[in-house]
Amino acid sequence: MDPSNPSPVATLRRYRIRETFNMPQASAAAEIPGLEPGLAGVPPLDEHYVFDTDRLRQFTMFWVGGFRALMIEGDPAAGKTSFVEQIHARLNVPLHKVPCGPTTDRYALLGQLLPDEDGRLRWRDGPVVKACRDGTSVLLDEYNVLDPGEATGLNMLLEGYAWTIPETGEVVTPARTARFFATQNGVDSKAAVAGRNVQDVANDDRFSYMQVDYLPADQERALVKLHLVGGGIPEALADTVAGLCVEVAHDVRQAFRADAPDIDKPLSTRAVLRWAKYTVMYQAALRQQRRSGLHYAIGQAVRMSAAMAKAVNEIITLKAGYDQCLNTRA
Ligand SMILES: Nc1ncnc2c1ncn2[C@@H]1O[C@H](COP(=O)(O)OP(=O)(O)O)[C@@H](O)[C@H]1O
Ligand SMILES: [Mg+2]
Repeated sequence: MDPSNPSPVATLRRYRIRETFNMPQASAAAEIPGLEPGLAGVPPLDEHYVFDTDRLRQFTMFWVGGFRALMIEGDPAAGKTSFVEQIHARLNVPLHKVPCGPTTDRYALLGQLLPDEDGRLRWRDGPVVKACRDGTSVLLDEYNVLDPGEATGLNMLLEGYAWTIPETGEVVTPARTARFFATQNGVDSKAAVAGRNVQDVANDDRFSYMQVDYLPADQERALVKLHLVGGGIPEALADTVAGLCVEVAHDVRQAFRADAPDIDKPLSTRAVLRWAKYTVMYQAALRQQRRSGLHYAIGQAVRMSAAMAKAVNEIITLKAGYDQCLNTRA
């Protein structure tokens, strides 16, 4: 291993922030280290992904500062998981993703003895140990669903200390570039309902912290428009539909946060994208029947309770200025 290269699996490569994250306002000289492309486990790239300047700056500070563990909190579908994935996609760093559940245990995280072809027990690294060895990253998704005892078992590694695998006696020292990401819905968020744990203070104390929110309206609108135009929709129509869908989504998210009784979930950017695409597909056909594609399409784009569908239908009418039968509303 090259002693000047802190990653045991690949050669470091520096990426220019401006081009890599499509951020024209970043300084031309600003760079962030990643790895040479081609490693297994790098998440697939979403080339339309939009990075928020503040979040990207916070991430860069964490990454170049040599910190190890980052906790990302935010509402459901705000973009926590995809943020971590898309950064790794661009820096070409493998990301071992662990969807955490109440029964996720140390074997799933750290590894276990499993029989090989000859029936002999062999140690197999779990995602956390693998990332420690390779100097890559691990994403503990929905971290506060994890049993606090299992989370506490990670403390040594989170801080970069060597850890002895009890089953084999092998000592694993986390590589300098090994990083841990945890995502969760905020404990005081409406979505943090039964089954969410508060990890103990010692474990919590090991994480840097960052909050993620939905994209600002203008950026989300630009993203939706880009997708529609990419699908052959004329600019003006794409812009109108994108604008309406994003405005409605904004109101639904606010209602969700304000505990509106009928709104039991927020609309994600992904759901808004689906809705906008269905809208333009339905619009022409439905107009002849005097029905609104916008009102109709959301039912296919997002599964909603009857009560939520009704409330959202009202919001759409308010924003669009016409109802589901294309009758104009003042
Ligand atoms: N900044 C963004 N640019 C493009 N798509 C986004 C962005 N933020 C979220 N999305 C989309 O919204 C969906 C939900 O995001 P996700 O990261 O899974 O949310 P969370 O992990 O917070 O529940 C994903 O399909 C993602 O691609
Ligand atoms: Mg997620």
